[in-house]
Amino acid sequence: MCGIVGYVGPRPVQSLLISGLRRLEYRGYDSAGVAIVEGSGIDVIRKAGRIAELEAELAGRSGQGTTGIGHTRWATHGAPNTINAHPHRDCSQNVAVAHNGIIENWSNLKAELIESGHVFQSDTDTEVVAHLIEDMADLPLEESVRAVMRRAEGALALAVVRSDEPDLIVGARRGSPLVVGLGDGENFLASDIPAFLEYTRRMAVLDDDRIVAVRPEGVTVTDLDGAVVEPATREIEWDLESAEKGGFPDFMLKEIFEQPGAIRDTLRGRFDSDGLVRLRELDLDLETARSFNKVFVIACGTSYHAAMMAKYAIERWTRLPVEIDIASEFRYRDPVLDDKTLVIGISQSGETLDTLAAVRYAHAQGTTLIAVTNVVDSALSRESDAVLYTRAGPEIGVAATKTFTTQLVAMQLLALWLAHARGSLDDAVIQNAVTAMSLLPDQVEQALTQSDQIREMSEQWADRRDFFFLGRSAAFPVAMEGALKLKEIAYVRAEGYPAGEMKHGPIALIEEGVVVVGVATNSHVKGKMLSNMEEMRARAATIVLVLTEGDAEGEAVADEVIFVPWAPELLSPVTAVVPLQLLAYWLAKKRGLDVDKPRNLAKTVTVE
Ligand code: G6P
Repeated sequence: MCGIVGYVGPRPVQSLLISGLRRLEYRGYDSAGVAIVEGSGIDVIRKAGRIAELEAELAGRSGQGTTGIGHTRWATHGAPNTINAHPHRDCSQNVAVAHNGIIENWSNLKAELIESGHVFQSDTDTEVVAHLIEDMADLPLEESVRAVMRRAEGALALAVVRSDEPDLIVGARRGSPLVVGLGDGENFLASDIPAFLEYTRRMAVLDDDRIVAVRPEGVTVTDLDGAVVEPATREIEWDLESAEKGGFPDFMLKEIFEQPGAIRDTLRGRFDSDGLVRLRELDLDLETARSFNKVFVIACGTSYHAAMMAKYAIERWTRLPVEIDIASEFRYRDPVLDDKTLVIGISQSGETLDTLAAVRYAHAQGTTLIAVTNVVDSALSRESDAVLYTRAGPEIGVAATKTFTTQLVAMQLLALWLAHARGSLDDAVIQNAVTAMSLLPDQVEQALTQSDQIREMSEQWADRRDFFFLGRSAAFPVAMEGALKLKEIAYVRAEGYPAGEMKHGPIALIEEGVVVVGVATNSHVKGKMLSNMEEMRARAATIVLVLTEGDAEGEAVADEVIFVPWAPELLSPVTAVVPLQLLAYWLAKKRGLDVDKPRNLAKTVTVE
């Protein structure tokens, strides 16, 4: 996730780009840059860090250019430094490109361009676009961007300027958002509406595989064949604050609804043409992958629940024994580690001190360390032997939602990759899992359609003080996460527990008024799970079940049901957790709480 802004018109563009980028900073903030057309050239100014750093860099600059593009970055390829900041240029410095998305075939394109003499400055996938356009200097810019869109695979939102067409920005869109702001004698291009809302309330919506030529006097939209397409236009009624939240009342709800896209991005480019998992960036040789004899997965908070799920997946698919550890406990218990141990640290921020301290301790014993994180070049990724990134984009709500579901997906990918490397699963089994994984974004989308139903359901429990969240097998971590969400944002006592263990103590707490939420999706122990829920029902608890669509047997046990689409057992946590996020969200809202900034909590905890 990154933010793009572009402007053509009569105004000096520099300050306009900066204010637009500030409005998009929620989309990413590890580095930023602008490209401003000045006379016959293009000035590109870029800086690592937040927009304020770029603004300081621009202070005192004398240019008065009125055409320009800007970008705020959330790294996916290459470290978040100044060299990798956008916009990127070609060798001749006549072209500047800002990009949001992932170009899946970038390494092939780059190799080809290097072969033909292009010199690259950055480690990004984006730079290939600038060089490809350079090779088409004879064509109108719009045509060359069209040609790039035909060659590039993956997700792209582009904004491109070229010095010989100074009053033009060409945009293109596939998979990543891009909207056009329609002004009077001026026009805008942006990843999201807040970037231009100060100047115009009229916008044009771009569909996928559209090219847009933005000039001061007007905007032309074409398809990949060059045919003109009339875009849908609309008036924006949101104020700035709701526009930044995409029309949602809070970032948390927005991020819950961003999960289908975040999962899609996390899966993107990670399957090969044989239907197997390909983790090119993992940078771990097969010999090492085959040498492991045990695995530790270490994390805190929500990430720990992703670690719990990973244990089921890694053990079942690789037959390696897996231990999971809460980071703040790990190094104080003298764990047995050696050079045949694989340690996986999961942390959305990559900066949680407990997790860093734990994995450093493990790494110092000669283990191999893999990081699973959402932040490129975070401390965790820098210290690891290999990194697998979730691609959720920045998460602003303190309670983790989209970073969690992308962690689940990343860990499933990693487990399948390890299984393939170690030969512990037949290719056909991996291919089936890959097919099922590719359905997850749509299935999560479907689970989200029940938000209103969950709101209505949860309203009746606004005053209940005791909740249990139960699950068995891979649904147990889901139950743990459901309970944590409710504690974090609704300040309600909620216990996550393995359903089969209730009879050994906690069942003494079950009585009328207690709400028991059971996760009973597809599982080889679903029958046992339903029996456990019967035990809760017999003690007069209110029973809520998350079930696979069409499960009449489960429905009979429950007072309320929430259905999610069928998925194989080890993938079903991804869809099953979504209703629990919504349940916590709506209960917190009913209680009038600030879900984005829950009391006593911090997004990233850098103390022990
Ligand atoms: C904090 C946050 C939690 C998060 C935990 C681990 O406590 O409030 O939401 O799960 O840190 O964060 P990490 O960045 O390591 O995933």
